Amino acid sequence: MTLDLFAADAPPLEDEVLDAGAVVLRGFVGARETALKDGLALVTAASPFRHLVTPGGLRMSVAMTNCGELGWVSDRRGYRYDPIDPESGLRWPAMPDAFTTLARDAAAQAGYPGFAPDACLVNRYAPGARLSMHQDRDEKDLRAPIVSVSLGLPAVFQWGGDARGDKARRVPLQHGDVVVWGGPSRLRFHGVLALKDGEHPFAGALRINLTFRKVRA
Ligand code: SIN
Ligand code: FE2
Repeated sequence: MTLDLFAADAPPLEDEVLDAGAVVLRGFVGARETALKDGLALVTAASPFRHLVTPGGLRMSVAMTNCGELGWVSDRRGYRYDPIDPESGLRWPAMPDAFTTLARDAAAQAGYPGFAPDACLVNRYAPGARLSMHQDRDEKDLRAPIVSVSLGLPAVFQWGGDARGDKARRVPLQHGDVVVWGGPSRLRFHGVLALKDGEHPFAGALRINLTFRKVRA
């Protein structure tokens, strides 16, 4: 039997509540993946992926770029949101419409209507790349959720607690899954375990993650 996830009679994938205010929308991307791929090509042509350096001087294993009014950057001076791509000296590329609508629709499905992101951080994981446990707390508007879209190779997302040392739950994420966290879960620690080797039609041997944020209050 062939599984066609887009077939009208395919059973809907269950949304998975992680905690109050936090949910995994399984397969939410669906047929929108083509528009996302086109958007990604435009964004990365204008602002290519690069490996940022942490304030402590370490090169991050995840390669990053941004689109939207503001982009998240890290260097020896610290972390910040900046309207200018430091590599090009120009504004970050505009957020493609398909990105904005996907983020808005996923947030609404998760119980956050009216989400209007002004920043989209694009993460690229090659095998071995990982993101250590952290909070997303550089945003001024903490009422808005974070919307995180998984594309390409699967990964294991770590869903932690309110303190860095809290035990983290392992949540496998597949191509097309969207995680939304806000409200009482907005400042949860989270991370991504080292990516395993593999091959996926969307991006070959890579995982791409889009995280949408509302930075300006
Ligand atoms: C992030 O925490 O910014 C990215 C999460 C992910 O790659 O799934
Ligand atoms: Fe994060």
